[in-house]
Amino acid sequence: MKPEILVMAASPSASVMAQLEQHFVCHHVWQVAPEARAAFIAGVGPNVRGVATTGMAGIGAALAAQLPRLEIVAVNGIGVDAVDFAALRPRGIRVTNTPGVLTDDVADLAVALLLAAARRIPSLDRYVRAGQWQAGMPVKPARALRGKVAGIYGFGRIGQAVAARLAAFGLQLRYWQPNVKKGVTVPRAASLLDLARDSDYLVVCAPGGAATRATVDAAVLEALGPEGTLVNIARGSLVDEPALADALADGRLGAAALDVFADEPSVPAALIALPNVVLTPHVGSLTVETRHAMGQLVVDNLLAHFGGEPLLTPVA
Ligand code: 8YV
Repeated sequence: MKPEILVMAASPSASVMAQLEQHFVCHHVWQVAPEARAAFIAGVGPNVRGVATTGMAGIGAALAAQLPRLEIVAVNGIGVDAVDFAALRPRGIRVTNTPGVLTDDVADLAVALLLAAARRIPSLDRYVRAGQWQAGMPVKPARALRGKVAGIYGFGRIGQAVAARLAAFGLQLRYWQPNVKKGVTVPRAASLLDLARDSDYLVVCAPGGAATRATVDAAVLEALGPEGTLVNIARGSLVDEPALADALADGRLGAAALDVFADEPSVPAALIALPNVVLTPHVGSLTVETRHAMGQLVVDNLLAHFGGEPLLTPVA
């Protein structure tokens, strides 16, 4: 008998979807209209032993409570901040994620966003399309990257991959996170506030969750300053979004480039209205290659669990 699993979102990899079908009885929540999902889950929930979910959706206590036979939650992402561990741990439910395979693509997007903000690519694209070039409208020069300072908030795999890329642009690097990272040459700032004060670009690469919630607050944004740029490829929850919109609107912060938001897929209207903001819809890991690799890890973790083998990427 194949184990029954809930699949919360589709993978763009046909091979991953085929493997899920081959090895499991899949209940595809993503195929069900949002208003019908509660009834769907109530119907299939009693037999569900695994959940394949996303970094954003995770699993909350209410869903976990509807799955009395749940044994494993396989997250298709590195972030597990949306997983309610307090609800899962007492039941011995195992959790896996997809570290490593998405590092390069997420770091690439961080750099792309930083460059897009620094060189104002979206607004220059609009300028050309609107015929303003032919009309002779002036273009304000951007600021060079060379010699500027990039501060990396969160110096794990992704933070370090961002730093390695930015070094090639001649940026000086600093990082901050609560614990000192051993074996790295990039200097650690004394605090997040100090990091922001010393940086022209603050790149958020730290995990989401209670410990980091709204840590990029009004004071940090103020310290980054009118010439400073915030880049966020981590989680929207790390940033005080109303404070960010205020700082950008009145020029206390220069620019922002954001792939993640506190309440996705909603993006605050105040941010959308601002010209000095570059917006992308949480696509850091959204490449054909990486989404296949992530989905394969999800499949492999589920197979390992149900085959009695050690998990490939258990979350501590
Ligand atoms: C994905 C992510 O967008 O890895 C993460 O934590 O947020 C992203 O890579 C998400 O998990 C979609 O599956």
